[in-house]
Amino acid sequence: MRVPRHVAIIMDGNGRWAARRGLPRSAGHRAGLTPVRTCIEECSRLGVEVLTLFAFSSENWKRPVTEVGLLMQLFLEALEREIDELAERGVRMRFIGARELLGAPLAERMDAAEARTRGNPGLTLAVAVAYGGRWDIVAATRRLAEAVQAGTLAPADIDEGRFAAELALGDLPEPDLFIRTGGDHRISNFLLWSLAYTELYFSDALWPEFDAAEFARALEAFGARERRFGQTSDQVGAGAC
Ligand code: FPP
Repeated sequence: MRVPRHVAIIMDGNGRWAARRGLPRSAGHRAGLTPVRTCIEECSRLGVEVLTLFAFSSENWKRPVTEVGLLMQLFLEALEREIDELAERGVRMRFIGARELLGAPLAERMDAAEARTRGNPGLTLAVAVAYGGRWDIVAATRRLAEAVQAGTLAPADIDEGRFAAELALGDLPEPDLFIRTGGDHRISNFLLWSLAYTELYFSDALWPEFDAAEFARALEAFGARERRFGQTSDQVGAGAC
């Protein structure tokens, strides 16, 4: 089986999963922790190098203030509860997004989790919180503009590689496989730049239902795709990549 180096997931459908059971939306978000664990385990087992999870988008701030508060509390609790096991498993934690917009308790634990797991050899787990693909591109652009203004970068030296290096995950391989659960076929401002040649996979399963068998189906679909990166099928077959 061809294993992707980097899997990026939009975990959608928690609210609908809860509504179908007559439960509050928060119960759906809590239930969403189980597939998070499953995906971490499966990626570690299969040798996936990077797993990126979209936990809270720049646009999710528009949700009711109570839901935003509950989600932040859930992230905080999950991080406190899981960090020991993640560290023992050799997972390297990364958080991407506008961390300065989060409360100090969460931001400080994110800093601490990254520092504690920085040298770990296993799966890199990137969690996107207060993240948007446009935010990422604008932040990268601003850093490049500052370097130009400081005289340390010439505009002529800005090419695709230099630009990509400034993005939040610029030091990691680009996603090979994007998965979105919940039935919608959208990218929703996720990793806009680096999804350029990613294989897209959409599942009708609601996120709390996304189990190891669903994950295996996504990997199987990925394995059946021909990735051409702009070349012809014949070129790819001849290994002209
Ligand atoms: C989208 O479902 C889901 C979210 C905005 C939150 C995702 C959070 C988790 C799965 C919790 C744990 C995650 C980590 C990494 C600790 P939705 O609420 O938009 O569902 P709906 O479309 O059915 O309303």
